[in-house]
Amino acid sequence: MDELLLIPGPTPVPAPVREAGSRPMTNHRSEAFARVLRTVLQGVQELYRTRQPVVPYASSGTGVLEAAVVNTLSPGDRVLALSCGAFGNRFSRIARAYGAEITHVEVEWGTGIPPELLEDHLKRADYRAVLVTHNETSTGVQNDLEGLARARADRPTLLLVDAVSSLGAIPVDMDGWGLDVVVTASQKALGCPPGVSFLAASEQAWEAYRQARMPRYYWDMGLVVEALRQPLAQTPFTPAVSVFYSLEASLELLRREGYEAACQRHRLLSEAVRAGVRALGLRPVAAERWASWTVTAVWLPEGVSADALTARVRERYGVVLAGGQGKLEGKVFRIGHLGYVWPQDILRCMEALGSVLQEMGVSVDARAGVEAAQQVFEARAVV
Ligand SMILES: Cc1ncc(COP(=O)(O)O)c(C=O)c1O
Repeated sequence: MDELLLIPGPTPVPAPVREAGSRPMTNHRSEAFARVLRTVLQGVQELYRTRQPVVPYASSGTGVLEAAVVNTLSPGDRVLALSCGAFGNRFSRIARAYGAEITHVEVEWGTGIPPELLEDHLKRADYRAVLVTHNETSTGVQNDLEGLARARADRPTLLLVDAVSSLGAIPVDMDGWGLDVVVTASQKALGCPPGVSFLAASEQAWEAYRQARMPRYYWDMGLVVEALRQPLAQTPFTPAVSVFYSLEASLELLRREGYEAACQRHRLLSEAVRAGVRALGLRPVAAERWASWTVTAVWLPEGVSADALTARVRERYGVVLAGGQGKLEGKVFRIGHLGYVWPQDILRCMEALGSVLQEMGVSVDARAGVEAAQQVFEARAVV
C-alpha cells in the first residue's frame, strides 16, 4: 500500500520532483548549478510577488525565522510578537533569545489575530518590528496578512512574516502589501524535501539590516546576496544542491498548474476537509473565519487518543496524519492538505478516518466524511 503523507510538512514529493532530486551531485560553483540557482530564485520571487532578491539558506523553517530576526534587529529593540499558536510562540522566543525586548500578545488558540488588535498596540507604543505567522500550523488558523499589513501601514515598524506553511498555497503579495521580511521553506507547499529555506526583505528591511546589531554570520543575508551577484551566481556556503534540483522541477509543476489555480485548489481542499470532518461529527479547532487553506486541526472525539487514531489510520489505510503540538498535544489531530495534494487524496483520508473512527467505537456513519467532501468537489465540478 502506498503511503499518503497528509501531515503539514514535509508534504508529498511528486515523482518528477523526486527524480530531479536524485540527479548526480554537481559542483555547486559551476555554470550548471548557477543556472539552477537563478531559475529557482526567480521562480520563488514570482511566488513572493516581490522585486527584491530572494535569499536562500540550507536550513529548515526555524533557521530562516532566526535569519529574519538577526538581519533586521538589535538587542534591546522593542518587538511586538503576535501569536496564535506554537509557531508564533517560537518566533517570539527566537527574538527574545537574541535580546529583543518582547511584548508577547497571544490570542486564544483557534482564532487568528484581528488586524484591529495590531492597530491598537501600534497606537499605544512604538515598536521596531512586529512578528506574525501567516498560517499557524499548530491550530490550522490562517491570518489576514493583507489586513495586518494595512494595520501597520505608514509606520516605520517592520513587519516580519513567517510564511512557512502558506507561501505557494495561500496568496502572498509581498511588495503589494508592503511586507518587510517574508520567510518560507522547501518542504511545505513547494512539495520538496526539507533543506532549503528562503527569505526576502523589503528596501526598508535592507535599511534596517545595515543598522542591526544582533550577532549574525551564517544568517547574514548580505553575504548571500553578494555571492548571488558574482558573475557566477553562487551561495557563500554549500547549498542543499539536490533540494535545488527538486525545487526547479516543483516550480515548473506549479507554473504549469498556475499559481492562482494552485492556491484555489488549496482553498477547495480545505473546504472539503472541513465538510468531511464535520460530517463525521468532529469539530475543527479553527473558527470558520480563520480556517486555514493548508492545514486543519480537529478536536479528538471523546475517548479517542491521537496516537491510537493516527496509528490505525496509517497502518490500515496508509494515510499519515499528525498529532497536536504545544498545548493541543493529545487533544487534536491534524490533516495537512498542502503541496501536491489532490481531491482524491482528501477522499481517501475521509474514508480512512470514517472507518477507523467507527472501528474505535465512535458512533458515526463511516461514509459520511467521504460523501460530504465529495459534495464539495462536485459542486465545483472537480470529481
Ligand atoms: C508556520 C511554521 N513556522 C515555522 C515552522 C518551522 O519549520 P521547521 O520545522 O522547518 O524548522 C513550521 C514547521 O512546521 C511552520 O509550520
